[in-house]
Amino acid sequence: MHKVFVTRMIPQEGLDLLSTARFRLEVHANDNPISRKELLNKVRDKDGLLCLLSEKIDKKLMDAGRSLRVIANYAVGYDNIDVEEATRRGIIVTNTPGVLTEATAEMAWALLFSISRRIVEADRLMRETNGFRGWEPMLLLGEGVSGKTLGIVGAGRIGQAMAWMSKGFNMRVLYFSRSRKENLEKDLNAKRVELETLLKESDFVSLHVPLTPETHHLIGARELSLMKKTAYLINTARGPVVDEKALVDALRDKKIAGAGLDVYEDEPRLASGLRKLDNVVLAPHLGSATTETRRNMSIMAAENLIAGLRGKTPKNVVNPEVFRAIKK
Ligand code: NAP
Ligand code: GLV
Ligand code: GLV
Repeated sequence: MHKVFVTRMIPQEGLDLLSTARFRLEVHANDNPISRKELLNKVRDKDGLLCLLSEKIDKKLMDAGRSLRVIANYAVGYDNIDVEEATRRGIIVTNTPGVLTEATAEMAWALLFSISRRIVEADRLMRETNGFRGWEPMLLLGEGVSGKTLGIVGAGRIGQAMAWMSKGFNMRVLYFSRSRKENLEKDLNAKRVELETLLKESDFVSLHVPLTPETHHLIGARELSLMKKTAYLINTARGPVVDEKALVDALRDKKIAGAGLDVYEDEPRLASGLRKLDNVVLAPHLGSATTETRRNMSIMAAENLIAGLRGKTPKNVVNPEVFRAIKK
């Protein structure tokens, strides 16, 4: 009987699948994140691991989990996992692509509107005694969205969904991505440009690249200085894609108009000074946080784990080269 460890309570649907697959299931059902020490201890005798993006799955963990055969990340991003090391050891790594695409793109739009139309500041004002004195010509003026230029950095599943959703707002779409996306160009009249051009011309810059060595600090002080003073930065990708300290400086010095952030460089910590700024809206990494999406992620991660442990090819393998290693 395979032994499986799930590092946090996830929607029941996935856990039910793992139970009916007749695995010996152990769940860290505590409401707190599992400590590193406990995680290292728990993987010791496990064949399968269902883990979160906040857990570092590195060489040391794989040393502790000698019998691990499948690591199913409960996320689409897998920068928390040393995939190369897993491949070397013949461990299959899976993720949850697709089921969270719309939810995350919607979150990027929610942040975009919240910051540009000052929704959080407005809400704060409404809760103050006598904060709302009636309609005012100059109260909380923001920036409009329709007809403006949207710059998508990383036109993958989520970046493309974000671009598609701009159709109703009649926006001009620019994108910077590793490869060309002909459908975006055909259907949305989107234009592929260099990052520098995108930063200079966009009113809203939305980040959707994965975190890799190439995208680490892709947006730093220099890139922020290229943006328009009236432009906004939206980040629902990964915190370290942005130099957060440089972003705080740019926001404080009004080099850009504002930012909407869902992810941070060193979660759950925030760069010093960030939470004091009014021109930023902060969300606690909620991109995929809809009931429906989390349920689907739970099913997908469980199905990946089950397939892998049963010697089948899971649907969402991030290291397909592992099968060559396993066959040998
Ligand atoms: P995806 O489909 O793989 O899209 C990533 C895109 O980035 C691809 O188009 C890829 O180009 C492009 N890209 C990769 N490296 C690049 C580089 N160095 N320069 C320029 N473009 C590059 O992934 P996705 O499903 O859209 O997810 C994207 C990321 O969103 C995830 O990795 C994750 O970190 C983040 N995310 C966050 C949340 C949240 O809760 N906030 C939720 C879900 C996902 P190609 O098309 O040429 O490969
Ligand atoms: C969330 O951030 C994910 O990568 O799924
Ligand atoms: C505002 O409420 C308006 O009617 O213009």
